[in-house]
Amino acid sequence: MTDNRPIGVFDSGIGGLTVLREIWNSVPNESTIYFGDNSRAPYGTKSKSTIIRYSLQNLKFLETKDVKMIVIACNTASAYAYEELKKRANVPVVEVVTPGADVACRSTKNGKIGIIATKGTISTGVYKDAVERRAAELGMKDIEIFEQACPLFVSLAEEGWWDTEVTRLTAEEYLKPLKEAGVDTLVMACTHYPLLSKVIGEVMGEGIVLVNTGEATAQVVSELLNKEGISSEESADGPVREFYTSDEPELFEKVAAPFLGEGLPSGTRHFSTDKYEVTI
Ligand code: DGL
Repeated sequence: MTDNRPIGVFDSGIGGLTVLREIWNSVPNESTIYFGDNSRAPYGTKSKSTIIRYSLQNLKFLETKDVKMIVIACNTASAYAYEELKKRANVPVVEVVTPGADVACRSTKNGKIGIIATKGTISTGVYKDAVERRAAELGMKDIEIFEQACPLFVSLAEEGWWDTEVTRLTAEEYLKPLKEAGVDTLVMACTHYPLLSKVIGEVMGEGIVLVNTGEATAQVVSELLNKEGISSEESADGPVREFYTSDEPELFEKVAAPFLGEGLPSGTRHFSTDKYEVTI
């Protein structure tokens, strides 16, 4: 069975493009529709009810595009709103927390796992729960989890300061407790952080395993498409890749370019999902 409808992907803005890139790598025949809620970003500093409302509005928009699957390409939205979206969506919903937790548990040798994310994601405790749950499923004992919010990393990534002295100093400050704790695996539980992975890896030192939740999520997307029998056929024209933003398209494309590497977006359209009425 095949299904050529697109996969809907949303994020608070451009960070989710790091997840999108991994989806393109993992399932290159799939068409995608990406929505970046740039005008209401960042999500990482907002309350749970706000993020649930935003996420439900984004879901409504993507459902109007007849998508066959939704990917919440934002850790904060996954942490706050996944359960609600799963209940209301009429297609499968993939979040980014569980896949990252799984890879972390299978990577650690000394059982010490670090999690870095936005303040919002850390405050939910969702990642910690997911790692503990996965570790229990795998029969792992003596797992220790160390969490650290790194809010400035988002701005540094958006500024394009992926490998600068400021970023290095900031990373040294944030990561000090995790280094001292001796974590051997670090989950980059925010969509922006993989862009800083060179500096993060160097600061953490040799032997550290950095978990890119986008990569882990793309793997889950691929498995789910196969399991549900909804993969796309290869098309002679290639997959369709559309972009929408709630802010200005030109601005989105300018900032998005370095996030996507070669797959530069063009023809981005504007759409505001805040017109949708949702009840929480
Ligand atoms: N996309 C968000 C996340 O992964 C980071 C940016 C934001 O705070 O909106 O948590």
